[in-house]
Amino acid sequence: MPGNTFGTALRITTFGESHGAALGVVIDGLESNFPIDLDHLALQMARRRPGGNPLGTKRQEPDSVEVLSGMFEGKTTGAPLAIIIKNTNQRSGDYHDISRLYRPGHADHTWQQKFGIRDWRGGGRSSGRETAARLAAGAIAMQILEKKGIHIQAYTISIGNILAHKRDYDEIACNPVSAPDAEAAILMEQLIERMREEQDSVGGVIECRITGLPSGLGEPVFDKADALLAHAILSIGATKGIEFGDGFACASRRGSENNDQMDADGFLTNHAGGINGGITNGDTVVFRTAVKPTSSIGMQQKTVDMEGNERTIVVEGRHDPCICVRIIPVVEAMSAITLLSLWYEQHGR
Ligand SMILES: Cc1cc2nc3c(=O)[nH]c(=O)nc-3n(C[C@H](O)[C@H](O)[C@H](O)COP(=O)(O)O)c2cc1C
Repeated sequence: MPGNTFGTALRITTFGESHGAALGVVIDGLESNFPIDLDHLALQMARRRPGGNPLGTKRQEPDSVEVLSGMFEGKTTGAPLAIIIKNTNQRSGDYHDISRLYRPGHADHTWQQKFGIRDWRGGGRSSGRETAARLAAGAIAMQILEKKGIHIQAYTISIGNILAHKRDYDEIACNPVSAPDAEAAILMEQLIERMREEQDSVGGVIECRITGLPSGLGEPVFDKADALLAHAILSIGATKGIEFGDGFACASRRGSENNDQMDADGFLTNHAGGINGGITNGDTVVFRTAVKPTSSIGMQQKTVDMEGNERTIVVEGRHDPCICVRIIPVVEAMSAITLLSLWYEQHGR
């Protein structure tokens, strides 16, 4: 199965299944002599881990990381840095009854068709748990970018049809949906709780802002900064769309409304979202990604079994009614890995 590696100058390879012994990542191409802040790494892991948010799944996983190689006396050596995260709270029995059924909206059917075998315990590598390994790699990339003055922040701007109308960035850490609008956050929370009671789920939109980026990152033609970010973000399970800057809204505008004019101090607007011709222009990079509603829901749905017989399915287990909040740190992590790789290409290590 190819496709477990991402990046060029900085490359990550992830491995492991949600109900296997451990998940892990090998990070290749890091600079040497960088002091890794393991407390910061643990904090990042806590943001995504199951059980870390009152609105999320009730499954508890500590998600503690173990660095196996590539670090000496607290610093990167430049050798491949390998990290594992042991799985400790699997309840594979939750999946036993549906082991021969395909969960609507999940990857069960396509995996079975393609590989002829699938780990039905939580979805194996198609589980959201795979992203714990990316998060560990992304946390290190983020520490290196922060030292260069580059800051990445993602947050929720809608859940269902409830929109954040404000961008109060100090508010993001103050509510359980990580929204930059306190009033909208309350309504979002209520909607997620209602979905839980109704055994249903709901999607949302995550916005990401990257400040402090120099101009010049991104390789024109196939490795454009926006194309690589899109690859990184759409590789996260449940993300279904991405737009940069004003995105799809540009399509109904005139050029005179949409162009980012300049004066001697720089750009007057940022409709482009900080990237022109695939190259960062020095302004804030802004993108949004659409997250679908969690496919695993407790309501009865129609499906088929592995023999093609029509059946009904109720997905038991501990699932988030909305996965936006858990995807936010993964969006930041994948952005960090992509941009550090582009930085190394442009400026070396
Ligand atoms: C952090 C994270 C947590 C997730 N948790 C769940 C979950 O609890 N239940 C579920 O059905 N899907 C969950 N997903 C989504 C599935 O992984 C995803 O829908 C599945 O792999 C199919 O891929 P697709 O939605 O991109 O087609 C999660 C994804 C991420 C990134």
